[in-house]
This record gives sequence, C-alpha cells and structure tokens, in this order.
Amino acid sequence: MLNRFSVKKGSFHYNNLRCYYKSLCNTVTVNFLKSLLNSKTSARYFHTSRYSSQSLVLGIETSCDDTGAAVVDTKGNVIGEALHSQLQTHLEMGGIIPPIARDLHTENICRIVETALQNANLEIKDLSAIAVTVKPGMPLSLLVGTHFAKKLCKTWNIPLIPIHHMEAHALTARMVEKVDFPFLVLLASGGHCLLAVANKIDEFLLLGESIDNAPGEVLDKVARRLKLRNLPAFSSLSGGKAIEELAKQGDATAFEFGNQPMYKYNDCSFSFSGLKAKIHKHVEREEINHNIEADQVLPSAADLCASFQHALFAHICRRLQRGMLYVDMKQMIPEGARKLVVSGGVACNSHFRKYLSIVCAEMGYTLVCPPPKLCTDNGIMIAWNGMEKWMAGVGVAKDIDAVDIEPKATLGINMIEDVRSCNISLKKKGIKLLPKKVKC
Ligand code: KG4
Ligand code: ZN
Repeated sequence: MLNRFSVKKGSFHYNNLRCYYKSLCNTVTVNFLKSLLNSKTSARYFHTSRYSSQSLVLGIETSCDDTGAAVVDTKGNVIGEALHSQLQTHLEMGGIIPPIARDLHTENICRIVETALQNANLEIKDLSAIAVTVKPGMPLSLLVGTHFAKKLCKTWNIPLIPIHHMEAHALTARMVEKVDFPFLVLLASGGHCLLAVANKIDEFLLLGESIDNAPGEVLDKVARRLKLRNLPAFSSLSGGKAIEELAKQGDATAFEFGNQPMYKYNDCSFSFSGLKAKIHKHVEREEINHNIEADQVLPSAADLCASFQHALFAHICRRLQRGMLYVDMKQMIPEGARKLVVSGGVACNSHFRKYLSIVCAEMGYTLVCPPPKLCTDNGIMIAWNGMEKWMAGVGVAKDIDAVDIEPKATLGINMIEDVRSCNISLKKKGIKLLPKKVKC
C-alpha cells in the first residue's frame, strides 16, 4: 500500500500519475469554471495592482485528507470558508489510502471553493490572489488543489501564491493575535513534528524535526491498535482525540516507557518509533493477560492511553526545552519578548497544552495556541499565509505554469547540526510535568 509520502517526484510512477490527475482535475475545473463563466459579464484583464486594504485572498488546501477553502481580508477576518473532512472514510479504511484521498478531494473541491465564495458573498473576479498548498504533502492530494488553483488563476488572470503547508501552520497564530517576529514555533501533526524559529514571513531556522514517524501518525496507529473505534463514544474521533478523551480516565504512571527517546543525543530531533514499539508490546502483553477476544477493548486501555500520551508529550517537551536553551544561548529572540507558537492537529490536545504551559512558564515564554479549529488542516491558514505574502509583496508566482508540487519539502534553513554542536545537556534541568502522587 502507498503510504502518505511514498510517490517520489521525478519517478516514472509520479509522472504518469501527474498526467492522469492533470486531465482529471481539468475536467472538474472546467465544469466549475463553465458555471462561473456563465455569470461573467465582461472580460477581466490581468492588472498588476498590488496590495490594498481591500485585498481579498482565497486559500485552497488539499495536502492530506482535508479539502479546505477560505477567503480572508487584510485584517485576518474570515469572510467565507468551507471544509470537507475525509476523516470518517479513512477511519473506516483503517488509515489514509492516497488514491482514495485524491478521489475525495477531486469530488469535493468545486463544491468547497464555491461554498467558501458563496459564504463570502463574492465572485472569483473579486479576489486579489489565490493561495494554494503546493508542499509538503501527499503527492496525489497536492496535485488536486494545485491544478485547480492554477486553472482558476489562468482563466481569471488572478495572481497565484504557492504555499508551504508548515509555514502556513506556523503563521496562523498571527491571524488571531499579535505575534511579532522572531518567535519559536513547534508544529506537531499527522505528518510532521518540527521546532523552528520564525524570523520573517518567509524565513525560518529549523532547530529540529522528527527522524522517523510523526506524533499524530503514531497516535492514530495506537488508537487503531487499541480498537478505540469500537467504543461508540470514540467511533468518529481522530486517533489523537480518542486517546486524549480516554486518557482522562487513566493513570499516566500505570505503564513504563523506559528511557526518553534519543536521550543520548543533545539535540532537538524527535523520534516516535521507539515509543510506538513499546506501546505495542504493552498492548500485546495486556491482551494475553486479559484474554482479549477479537473486537474487545482492553480494560486497561485508559491507563495505556494516559501513559502513552504522557511519554510522547514529555519527549516533545524535553526537546523543546533544549531548543529554548539554544535560542537563549544564541540570543535569537530578545528576552522578555519570547513567544512559543504551537500548532498542527496534535496541538489541539489539552493535556499537551498543559505540559507546554509548564515548560513556557519555567523558561520565560508566552504560549500561543490558535483555537483547535485553526490547528488542524483548513483553508483559512492557507488564505492567511497567502495574504501575509500578498501584503509583504513576496512569494507571488511569476509564471503560473512553472508552479509545481513538492511532496517533500523541509522548512527553512537547517540549524540541526549547529544545535547538536552546542551539546546542551538537560541532566540537571529536567522540568517536572506530572504532579507528585499523593500517598494515602
Ligand atoms: O494538522 P493535521 O490536521 O493534519 C496533518 O497535517 O497531519 O493533524 C492531524 C493529526 C491526526 O494525526 C490526529 O490524530 C491528530 O492530528 N489530532 C490530535 C488531536 N486532534 C487531532 N492529536 C492529539 N490530540 C488531539 N486532540
Ligand atoms: Zn497540517
């Protein structure tokens, strides 16, 4: 089975798929455009006028399993939005299957863009620019949104702004509150885990990233392994959300996870595959101990969720703490103005937010978490990233035909080696995240 990032750019497979989906998306776009063209009264010519306070940007997101579209203004007001989540289908399929995700994007993209425009009471010709996620993400999914946006821009002579999905996650917080550059940003989602300093709209310094799985991906797999979908209250929740909910009834100290992942490496890289292997061993052992039958959920599932969630978030917090010490050492963000922005689907987790607030309080940071709705994938964050670029006059495509998807794309300038070379030890500086157990 293809996994989320398995089709390599430039490969024979990739090029064939590109041709196929280009024609498929053309058909879809043409139908949509036909209806729009009917309402068009006069030809609109391309004009080069740039940002004005009346500017409006449409954002389109199809990098993974959410089809999102939204229009934002220069102040960050959401004028109209629409979102189609594929979660239910993927839960039933036991994971995201890339061709199915692509088909669902293709099926829904016209309706979602049209709805976002209708909700905004706008026509395409009212838009200043269209922003679309072109990287990183699942190739088949990225192609749907990218071709759709390119087609719209070419037909209506509208500027196109290609967007980096992780940059968009990182900058969403600036839409809802005042967050000045530079700031520290931690992104934890189903596809990524990374820590970076955001210096400008288009300048990031990457301090660390996951060397294997992403935290959301692991939470989803663990929820599947624990068969949480068989509990009616959790049947329609993402794996991460289901684990968060069940963990509320569990004991975070019930199961041991041994040494912190990568404890020997004094850098800010993350690793989740070891934790995944350990929880699978715990589950196997528990299933034998409790004589568990096929569809049954373990009686100790809540404790397993709480302990696993604790181990995973404690790992992220330790690497984050080192990142904060590195920022301090290199004076990358002025003291007294240090903010940590957290986003990505995993940042919806209230337990994680509690741990992060403990780390921030200890390290002299203000924690900024956008509302959960803006942490998971959506069209608003793409529209806002497009608007920030539009206002700054950066990142507008000079040649729409040359815009292409990039399934794998790192974020900013890689500082990982430099962080490692500083050899920052946390031995005596570990932060307590769990309250001490009260003995009765
Ligand atoms: O950012 P996102 O919507 O999509 C990606 O770019 O990956 O993140 C989706 C991930 C899923 O793995 C989901 O299980 C996780 O975010 N997630 C959560 C929670 N809500 C969603 N993880 C932990 N706690 C939550 N409350
Ligand atoms: Zn995302």
